[in-house]
Amino acid sequence: MTTAARSTLLTGIGELTTSDPALGTLHDAALVLEGARVAWLGDAGAAPAADDVVDVDGRAVLPGWVDSHTHLVFAGDRTEEFEARMAGKPYEAGGIAVTVEATRGASDAALRANLARHLAEAYAQGTTCVETKTGYGLSTVDEERSARIAAELADEVTYLGAHLVPPGHDPNSYVDLVRGEMLDAVTPYVGWADVFCERGAFDEHDSAKVLRAAGQQGLGLRVHGNQLGEGPGVRLAVEHGAASVDHCTYLSDADVDALAGSDTVATLLPACDLSTRQPLAPARRLLDAGATIALASNANPGSSYTTSMAFCVTTAVLQMGLSVTEAVHAATAGGARALRRDTGDGAVGTLRVGARADVHVLDAPSATHLAYRPGVPLTWAVWRRGEEVSPRRRPT
Ligand code: NIG
Repeated sequence: MTTAARSTLLTGIGELTTSDPALGTLHDAALVLEGARVAWLGDAGAAPAADDVVDVDGRAVLPGWVDSHTHLVFAGDRTEEFEARMAGKPYEAGGIAVTVEATRGASDAALRANLARHLAEAYAQGTTCVETKTGYGLSTVDEERSARIAAELADEVTYLGAHLVPPGHDPNSYVDLVRGEMLDAVTPYVGWADVFCERGAFDEHDSAKVLRAAGQQGLGLRVHGNQLGEGPGVRLAVEHGAASVDHCTYLSDADVDALAGSDTVATLLPACDLSTRQPLAPARRLLDAGATIALASNANPGSSYTTSMAFCVTTAVLQMGLSVTEAVHAATAGGARALRRDTGDGAVGTLRVGARADVHVLDAPSATHLAYRPGVPLTWAVWRRGEEVSPRRRPT
């Protein structure tokens, strides 16, 4: 005999952002979670009975954030590099090597604990789906264990052996390693492969070699591109049918047109742009051209040490010209699209019947408060896969 999954009715919802264009934003709404799925949503007055009832007392409810770009398998700290940057030193890809050394020296248990701690930090702020990457191992053995540990805890795992040519390696033989033995070692644990196509990292030719090999292996593709200047990253991503090209800080008109005419999501990382003293990515230009955008934290110890998706949304509204609706959409449905998890049973980033029961309740009457009250921790409660993941804040 099968037992029905336990159900929870969230009622008294002042504003329900679904991030589903067909449903829009509902008021005086209710939502039923059953097991790990959304079972019902609509007018509070028409809500069915459920095993448990939570009255959110007029608060705003959103889909959990989908953080589609993080680098959380790491050890060590780069406070000094950050301080030097704030004093005027430019960000360079080479800083990655500092984290590589610390990561190689850490035990599996220490890497796992650090990842778990950062995921818990993210969940407590309303993030419910997280992609994370390898890329601080850069040897077959260290990339394999990074991928294995990531796969234990994260929703999506990306192989980023092509993050930097490790000091002391010949670039050509390193690219061969990344697309050969290292790729074979990580493939059982990852769904995606990525390449950092940027000056100081990998050029277009080598990036294309890595993407081709990963595609032949059946992995989905992502690209780090156009972070430190205009370059081939966006074009390469679009030409290879990558699901996402991430950073997009410096875009030519041709890049914007290419993104607008493709299925490749432009994933923007405003916390990184601020922390590396770059201009903010041209979110408004991309949306106006018809491109799909995502917002993500890029949580990593070098260029963007934050797990706060709310900070990214706030920045997108206050400084990048997006409306609250556009920014919330980019941080939920946009991230889901960048991970190709936006459709079907268990989709994330939207609240609709059949979606994963990932719910973020704000201690505020509307999502507008994310920008109206910048920096204020507004998360009141979070459900991830139907389980409440952090202690609920008491009503104030
Ligand atoms: O996305 N751009 C490449 N990788 C990371 C930075 C990693 C680091 O500096 O440690 C990023 O910004």
